[in-house]
Amino acid sequence: MRIITIFALVFVLGFSTAMAVLIRSPVPLSGWAADPVAALELSQGENPAPVQLVRPAVRPLSAMAQLGKAIFYDKTLSASGEMSCASCHSPAHSYGPPNDLPAQFGGPALKSQGVRAVPSLMYLNDQPNFSIGPDQADNDMPVPLPQLVAAARAVKRVTKTARSTAQSAANIVPEGGLFWDGRVNTLQAQAMGPLLSPYEMDGGSVAEVAVKLQAAPYARYFLELFGPDIFRDPPLVVSEAMFAVARYQIESPDFHPFSSKYDAWLEGKARLTRQEMRGYILFNDPNKGDCAACHLSQPSPDGRPPLFTDHQYEALGVPRNPYLAINNNPNYYDLGICGPYRDDLRNQTQYCGMFLTPTLRNSAQRQVFFHNGVFHTLQQVLDFYNFRDTDPGRIYPRGSDGKVQKFNDLPAKYVANIDDTDPPLNRKLGEKPALTHAEEEDIIAFIKTLNDGYYTPQAERPAN
Ligand code: HEC
Ligand code: HEC
Repeated sequence: MRIITIFALVFVLGFSTAMAVLIRSPVPLSGWAADPVAALELSQGENPAPVQLVRPAVRPLSAMAQLGKAIFYDKTLSASGEMSCASCHSPAHSYGPPNDLPAQFGGPALKSQGVRAVPSLMYLNDQPNFSIGPDQADNDMPVPLPQLVAAARAVKRVTKTARSTAQSAANIVPEGGLFWDGRVNTLQAQAMGPLLSPYEMDGGSVAEVAVKLQAAPYARYFLELFGPDIFRDPPLVVSEAMFAVARYQIESPDFHPFSSKYDAWLEGKARLTRQEMRGYILFNDPNKGDCAACHLSQPSPDGRPPLFTDHQYEALGVPRNPYLAINNNPNYYDLGICGPYRDDLRNQTQYCGMFLTPTLRNSAQRQVFFHNGVFHTLQQVLDFYNFRDTDPGRIYPRGSDGKVQKFNDLPAKYVANIDDTDPPLNRKLGEKPALTHAEEEDIIAFIKTLNDGYYTPQAERPAN
């Protein structure tokens, strides 16, 4: 079949034209040799195996979710009276930060700088609970964390590559949870933090927030949903409010539309440009970008669209960000899973420096990248992956001794935790980088196809 296609191509096009097609094609020659039929379609920007994507069903928002929406946009809940969830998780910016600041300013006068970059709130609806493998999915009795950690100790880590992401599922590494360090499991529990945190909305005590909720224009929803006595129990009011915000994020398709050009392409409804196609191939090639090893790019067998994360944690060793005020303290380190913002795994130092792999959907709309917001363009991000090991002088600052301060945002004793096995992070000083500049640009062009709003997917009918 393969040989026939190549012969057919040569016969129809003539030898020199056929060679020109092969050479100009975004598909590498090895791809043509492996599957020429698919390669021919790919080189025309088409998806050789279109699928019908299965999206979360769209229904009108429940009363609970409508209440949550009102709370999401309510600035009166903050000490400053000027900050709502939407101030940091801006709907016009994929529910991520509205600017290029590494962290946002909150508190009573909006002058206290946060400590981490604001993540997007999109595509969190299927986020699994925090766990440390093995897979907990079909386990009724959740195993306590210390036991999981002990089990994980005995197992050797496998390298994950874009070609065999199944290995990453078998890996005994931390996965799931919300926040950069996974310290919270549910969207509901999550929202309490920013509501009360002095760096964020600084809403005061639970009792104060409950009083504000009772005075809000939407207070009657509380009475309708939870009965006339609800405001007698302030902790319950706040907890139901957070449940409502979580329902809003789960029910509203705005948080998970799957309407990018790439989704359209997966469904056979769009053609990638030559550059986007080259980027797609490089993104998935274990010898090139290998990005898909962690930022999963393929739909599941039952048609669920890819989320561009494997929900796992890695220590990548990104450079320290001098523009975060908290970093003025030379003894401060953000160690992710092992602290300082969660303390249950403080002694599990093998996880120090690990952060959650974020989705890359709508990443091209962000102006700040990684947990400490150290980078501001996708170009800088690509350079980080490409030169971290081959030419670290391009990524990290130099000390007064003139030496490059590689991995300057992690105490030396934890540097061994940094991932140096998963490509492209497995290269050595002075080796050829995995990508050329043009190839970096191709990958960026592909990441742009992950921006939502390219098309209106066929709405799925409610199940009943
Ligand atoms: C001052 C800015 C700010 C405000 C206001 C804010 N957040 Fe956040 N949010 C953040 C930051 C920063 C993080 C990441 C913190 C971390 O990882 O430690 C975050 C993380 C989250 C996450 C986890 C996302 C993920 O990818 O794991 C959720 C969910 C969330 N916020 C919801 C809310 C809700 C709901 C509100 C309103 C009640 C809110 N936030 C208000 C800054 C803010
Ligand atoms: C070994 C797993 C792994 C591989 C391979 C990988 N990433 Fe990541 N990526 C991560 C993790 C983990 C983070 C967050 C790290 C942090 O904040 O400290 C991240 C963060 C990012 C971010 C920042 C997103 C945001 O919202 O801040 C971008 C963009 C990104 N990766 C793109 C890529 C590209 C492009 C490639 C391929 C060249 C790639 N990644 C390869 C694990 C990986």
